[in-house]
Amino acid sequence: MKRVLSGVQPTGDVTIGNYLGAIKRFVELQETTKAFFMIVNLHAWTVPQDPVVLREKTISLAALYMAVGLDPNKATIFAQADVPEHTELAWLLQCIAYFGELGRMIQFKEKSEGKQNVTVGLYTYPVLQAADILIYQADQVPVGEDQKQHLELTRDLAERFNSRFGHTFTVPEPLISEFGARIMGLDDPTKKMSKSAPSPFNRITLTDSPDEIKTKIMKAVTDTENEIRYDPETKPGISNLLTIHSLFSGLAVEELVERFRGQGYGTLKKDLVEVVVSHLQPIQERHRQLLVSGEVLDVLKRGAERARAEASKTLYAVKEKMGLVLR
Ligand code: TYM
Repeated sequence: MKRVLSGVQPTGDVTIGNYLGAIKRFVELQETTKAFFMIVNLHAWTVPQDPVVLREKTISLAALYMAVGLDPNKATIFAQADVPEHTELAWLLQCIAYFGELGRMIQFKEKSEGKQNVTVGLYTYPVLQAADILIYQADQVPVGEDQKQHLELTRDLAERFNSRFGHTFTVPEPLISEFGARIMGLDDPTKKMSKSAPSPFNRITLTDSPDEIKTKIMKAVTDTENEIRYDPETKPGISNLLTIHSLFSGLAVEELVERFRGQGYGTLKKDLVEVVVSHLQPIQERHRQLLVSGEVLDVLKRGAERARAEASKTLYAVKEKMGLVLR
């Protein structure tokens, strides 16, 4: 059975970009693979955090995983900090990763640009991500397009380790969908939707109220024409709205273009509000119930135990190859 691993940071609120680009696919993949889905609370610390909020967000994200349909009996759901093997492997991988290759990471460049006191953690972030993946011998990693470069680095590190020490790691493939891997910001459809963009009008979060969803979609930046057409180059705003509609409603973009032919952008936007609200409402309801049930901490505890059992096997093999097992 193929092994799948992915993770989401518990910072900010999860956006429909995270959902459509990654999390929605986790739910499909748990049916056919041995799947590990984590909340990457160690990665969160590459930028300053409020410890109380971080703890809450970690639990809330685990509840959200379950609310969208991840089943702890089918997939291993856990928090990264509960499996210390990740950081131990990350150290060993740091000793085979090159300074230059980490400096080329686009996300590091974007997040550190113009900032003082950039942490070493932000710089070595992709090595911890590689450890997350390689420690489970993952074959496939479902992610949005922005993670492509981190996956390439993970593959390079796995291949470098294997060629130096003999076959140890599965070299993972990124699973990036052709459609929906880059949901754009509603306030600026030339940039990706992001949890951390300064304006709340950039994104719809999975916990937004129907009123917030309505306001954000109705305010979404489009263009000065009035023709509904899918063309990400010249009509990024409308194309983004069509993409979001299609991924939530299950209707093909061509069908939507046909359906809204000759109608204004307002009609498409109003319909999209209904589609998004009706999809998110049951998720939000389950999310609230899970948070009050107290079930989440138990799920994370069991998940961490299962994850550690797997992770420790790989770590042992790595340490043995590196001359670090003494007895
Ligand atoms: P994070 O928390 O930034 O994002 C979680 C997932 O959502 C995807 N995503 C998007 N997809 C489509 N459109 C968007 N606008 C959009 N924004 C985000 C991301 O590509 C990601 O798949 N480094 C990772 C977390 C991580 C990880 C891992 C992932 C740590 N270790 C191991 C996979 C495997 C991150 O910051 O994701």
